[in-house]
Amino acid sequence: MSIASTVALVSACSRAGITACFPTHNAARDGGLASWLSRIQADQKAFADQGGCPAPFAVNINVSRHKPQHVLDQEIADCRAAGISIITSNAGNPAELVKRVHDWGGIVIHDATTVEQAEKAAAAGVDGLMLVCAGAGGLGGLLSPFAFVPKVRSFFGGIIQLAGGVADGTGIAAAEILGADMVCMGTRFIATEESGVAAGHKQMLARARMSDIVWTENIVGIGANFLRPSIIACGLDPDDLPQLTADGRTTMSRSIKPWADVWSAGHSAALIKHVPTVASLIVQLEDEYREASQPRKTAVPCP
Ligand SMILES: Cc1cc2nc3c(=O)[nH]c(=O)nc-3n(C[C@H](O)[C@H](O)[C@H](O)COP(=O)(O)O)c2cc1C
Repeated sequence: MSIASTVALVSACSRAGITACFPTHNAARDGGLASWLSRIQADQKAFADQGGCPAPFAVNINVSRHKPQHVLDQEIADCRAAGISIITSNAGNPAELVKRVHDWGGIVIHDATTVEQAEKAAAAGVDGLMLVCAGAGGLGGLLSPFAFVPKVRSFFGGIIQLAGGVADGTGIAAAEILGADMVCMGTRFIATEESGVAAGHKQMLARARMSDIVWTENIVGIGANFLRPSIIACGLDPDDLPQLTADGRTTMSRSIKPWADVWSAGHSAALIKHVPTVASLIVQLEDEYREASQPRKTAVPCP
């Protein structure tokens, strides 16, 4: 996640046994991708040397046609050199990326917010699809996971990752019942000690009610979920945001930076009440998942 996914967050997740992902643009602003990869891998090695078993981490590469080819080539070359086994991708057509990542034995998981995007990515040969459903933080989709996941499962046999609204172990168990292989949790990990967002963002998220999450296209030109109090803090009216231009561009003042000033979170913010360390969060998620996977006791005994 932009800003949130730092070397510290990715390393903490890897040590706790889960796969974290960071977008290449986070590294580009802070020493470069090659440097981030070697720092995270050095931490994994240190952990393994102590007897730990670090989980692999993933790198998120945006394959939008607006990205300069030499930048994309360098990102792919850095991931290849570091032997990154999981690449997630978004925007654009992942076909070329898939060929190049498969060449070194890695896999590609592409994100989709519509069935049409999922079909195109499947045709491009991706190994997995991240279905970004209604209520997700960041550039959230609008489809219900109850329909989206089984629909995509009906034509795609690869990995399905459900993203959007999952903040606890019950959500993970529910995603599996729907046909997903795994979940991607974003908002829940923004409110952790290791995430790189401002302390105010974490606190606002932990205090948020469901009605504080505003879905709007007017801030970045693409639909995304933002925290209402952060929009107000930037001097904007969440119910009367600057209108888009005819070709869909935002007219918000350039002095206000989306993500850094206007803070994002998804519907699951309403389930989040504290800012734990990653390690303690994972223990909590495991307990909740185990509890949710037990056969349910019926509240009303059968006659
Ligand atoms: C603040 C924020 C920044 C994000 N940045 C990115 C990003 O740079 N690239 C990306 O693919 N997804 C990004 N996401 C989306 C997440 O990867 C994930 O799909 C989403 O958070 C899952 O939904 P949830 O927030 O309800 O858990 C971001 C999400 C948030 C909340």
